Amino acid sequence: MKISALQFAPRFLDKNYNLRKIKQLLDKLKTDLIVLPELCNSGYVFATPEEVFSVAEEAGKGETYFTLSEIANRNNCNIVYGYPELDGNKLFNSCMLIMPDGKFYNYRKTHLFNREKLFFSPGDTGFQVFSILDNIKIGMMICFDWQFPEAARTLALAGAQIICHPANLVLPWCQQAMKIRCLENRVFAVTANRIGTELNAGEKVSFTGQSQILNTKGEVLSSLSVNEEGTITVEINSEEANDKTVTERNDAFKDRRPEFYKL
Ligand code: ACM
Repeated sequence: MKISALQFAPRFLDKNYNLRKIKQLLDKLKTDLIVLPELCNSGYVFATPEEVFSVAEEAGKGETYFTLSEIANRNNCNIVYGYPELDGNKLFNSCMLIMPDGKFYNYRKTHLFNREKLFFSPGDTGFQVFSILDNIKIGMMICFDWQFPEAARTLALAGAQIICHPANLVLPWCQQAMKIRCLENRVFAVTANRIGTELNAGEKVSFTGQSQILNTKGEVLSSLSVNEEGTITVEINSEEANDKTVTERNDAFKDRRPEFYKL
């Protein structure tokens, strides 16, 4: 199967531009699964809840959802994208998996980063695994979830073969850390990061780009630079993630000793 990441610089609160850009980049792309950045339709550096409310969408509704489900259907691909989610009067930093047949699943970011805590509620969905294509298992986590090995571990123990990881990365360590997440769990990962700098109400944030697709050994199969806009695609055999062998006498999962772990 083919898996892909999309990297670009969303414009703050400019949903029209962001969706147009995403459509352009996805137009002729042939892939089975594409991951887009966190908050890809809205930008990131919110200064007030009103700003978030002005771009938030209910899960499975709204312009972003309809635009991307049309593309998922037309291109016959699965799309994972990050967006600000509205539920009642609550906001979540969420990502959505849309399948070509219109089915969708939502994940709400578990570990909020820095000023996100001012606007978003902590996610309450937990880490779930979904089947795409011919029973290929994928899981979702968002950006700063990388800091907590429990996130990727939970997904891998639940059977995820590919971790879809929309991101708006700011700190310099995630791209390295995700190699370890893949190695220790023997899974593939697609980190789709954004690029550019946002300045709003005196708050300036620069994003690190370097989106990457990793294999089950933590090796980089493909990546983008710190400021490149575009997509990357690789062909993988997802079944490699079922093999947790380390040596002839070691298995990364069967050798675990949970009775000694205090988590
Ligand atoms: C982040 O979680 N967006 C750094």
